[in-house]
Amino acid sequence: MTPYKMSELHSRCMPNYQNWSADYYRTLLKSKNSIFHIEEFGFGFARFSKDEGEIIMIMIDPSFRHKGRGTLLLKKLLDDLKSIGCKKIFLEVGSNNEGAIALYKKNNFEKIGERKEYYSLKTGGKLNALVFQKVL
Ligand SMILES: CC(C)(COP(=O)(O)OP(=O)(O)OC[C@H]1O[C@@H](n2cnc3c(N)ncnc32)[C@H](O)[C@@H]1OP(=O)(O)O)[C@@H](O)C(=O)NCCC(=O)NCCS
Repeated sequence: MTPYKMSELHSRCMPNYQNWSADYYRTLLKSKNSIFHIEEFGFGFARFSKDEGEIIMIMIDPSFRHKGRGTLLLKKLLDDLKSIGCKKIFLEVGSNNEGAIALYKKNNFEKIGERKEYYSLKTGGKLNALVFQKVL
């Protein structure tokens, strides 16, 4: 999947959020603190610093969902973060994103907080972020 396709998938998966351009993805792909797992059906992206990691996003093409692929990419990211010494993993997710919240809870992430009006939506509205943590 090219950076262009990643940007296109991003806008299809998260139509209410600001899009990330292909150029932005190109920059992230080169960053030393980024971990990507990229497949034809989607991609997962994490970042790390010292012993902490953050799952930034998992995007699965709508026609490939509900078949364990989100779980697969999440597990690959967690394995990589663990192998480089990360002990705690964090993530933020939109408070109305039921599918992602269920995926993270099923993989033993615990809710540790909520950030009010964290996301600015394309519609002009705001959305809270739930903060989850997993200790490896
Ligand atoms: C969230 C997302 C990554 C899940 O991908 P997926 O490949 O469908 O996930 P899986 O098949 O591995 O599902 C694993 C579990 O997550 C939960 N889940 C996934 N999608 C769900 C949904 N729409 N509603 C409720 N639970 C859901 C279920 O518990 C599921 O287990 P089950 O199949 O045994 O019921 C996918 O829906 C997606 O790309 N969404 C848009 C982008 C996004 O919001 N990403 C996450 C935040 S960055």
